[in-house]
Amino acid sequence: PTVLLLNGPNLNLLGVRDPAQYGTTTLADIEKRVTDLGAELGADVECVQSNHEGVLVDQVHRARELDGIVLNPGAFAHYSIALRDAVDAVDTPCVEVHISNVYAREEFRHTSVTAPVMQGYIAGCGVTGYELGLRAVLARIGRPRG
Ligand code: DQA
Repeated sequence: PTVLLLNGPNLNLLGVRDPAQYGTTTLADIEKRVTDLGAELGADVECVQSNHEGVLVDQVHRARELDGIVLNPGAFAHYSIALRDAVDAVDTPCVEVHISNVYAREEFRHTSVTAPVMQGYIAGCGVTGYELGLRAVLARIGRPRG
């Protein structure tokens, strides 16, 4: 199987951005960790990051050809109906990951408009959440949604 690891806005700044919230691991480190875990589990991992909503929508559409998506939508989780609709429109299983515990933060982060169309949701596990997300999405492949 091939899984898309898709990161949204500002996640290219991981490592330097608010380390108290997000730690010091860089996006390149995360992508390597998830790719290495994929190799161990027999999956190819393609890594994409974009700060642009439309590019993320295009990537979700592209993932129709793939077997799963691990998605950190960043702030788009809180308000992008377009990204939610994109995930809803494809059959590819998608797991949402947030590095921080969004429920322990500002109230505007407590809502995810994308979560209801996800196969699963992980928050507050730090960058380990991405590895958990890969394991979860691989476990969902071939099983019905819900
Ligand atoms: C985040 C949480 C979001 O609220 C925030 O806008 C981000 C990162 C996380 O991984 O914890 O950009 O998605």
